[in-house]
Amino acid sequence: MLCAVVLGACGKGGGDAAAKADAIRVGFSQVGAESEWRTANTRSVKEALVAPEFNLKFSDAQQKQENQIKALRSFIAQDVDVIAFSPVVESGWETVLREAKAANIPVVLTDRAVDVSDDSLYTTLIGSDFVEEGRRAARWLLEDSASRKSSGAAGPVRIVDLQGTVGSAPAIDRMAGFKEVIGQDPRFAIVRSQSGDFTRAKGKEVMEAFLKAEGRDGIDVLFAHNDDMAIGAIQAIEEAGLKPGEDIRIVSIDGVRGAFEAMKAGKLNATVECNPLLGPQLAQIIRDVHAGKPVARRVEVEEGVFTRDQAAAELPNRKY
Ligand code: AHR
Repeated sequence: MLCAVVLGACGKGGGDAAAKADAIRVGFSQVGAESEWRTANTRSVKEALVAPEFNLKFSDAQQKQENQIKALRSFIAQDVDVIAFSPVVESGWETVLREAKAANIPVVLTDRAVDVSDDSLYTTLIGSDFVEEGRRAARWLLEDSASRKSSGAAGPVRIVDLQGTVGSAPAIDRMAGFKEVIGQDPRFAIVRSQSGDFTRAKGKEVMEAFLKAEGRDGIDVLFAHNDDMAIGAIQAIEEAGLKPGEDIRIVSIDGVRGAFEAMKAGKLNATVECNPLLGPQLAQIIRDVHAGKPVARRVEVEEGVFTRDQAAAELPNRKY
């Protein structure tokens, strides 16, 4: 009881009931609950890191870096065996990660990367290749535009870009990958770019502002850095009296159930898969790290691209 109250007063595993004495004590700091993707990711992590093998201390940062830093410090004070976290943003982690290193606690990054000068501050990163996801979205757009060209729509392509959380790895990398590919064709131009923080509500709000600024006829394509923002934007487009998926083509990222439903209804043109079901792989990495086994520095997840014509057949197979 005293151990539970005085954080850090007990050794690794010592603060828990006898039945859990051997459990691997994991502190996991999650970004928040901003999207369908995140909800599925949290569920996957919680389902994989279960007793009696694991003793999970889960903390939700509500999309704030300061909350994550506090959570990490609390895990260090509790002397957990392994810290795992999905960083809200890329920068600003050096100090707290040095504290974890000094306490001899290995850190596993899940989903998102950090930008640190010392690579030894974390053991591994398990997650998607966000640059490639951006490239895939752009490749779909080039191919779709090429097929439309033959039916007469050959003009300049004006794109609005709904970015993810400012400073986050997926927002930075998806933009870089997307720009790299559309940069190959001078007809494609990003006319507006703004963050919708990966949420439906802000996706809608920012799309309303885009429509106001560019006018009803001023936007050909929306690139949304996640499905939730695309779904919010679809509402804004409909409220403006336009047909999403037709008057404005939309490509987004994640491949959540809501996106497949929107594609089935003809309102979203394509989604690039980003797999949130990282729990089982994370559990294995934590086992290996805890056992002192070598682990790969980077563990990637396999993903695809889905279009409207595949939506109805694929919907029943979606696990998130
Ligand atoms: O880091 C992964 C991204 O975070 C997902 O694409 C987005 O939906 C989530 O909020």
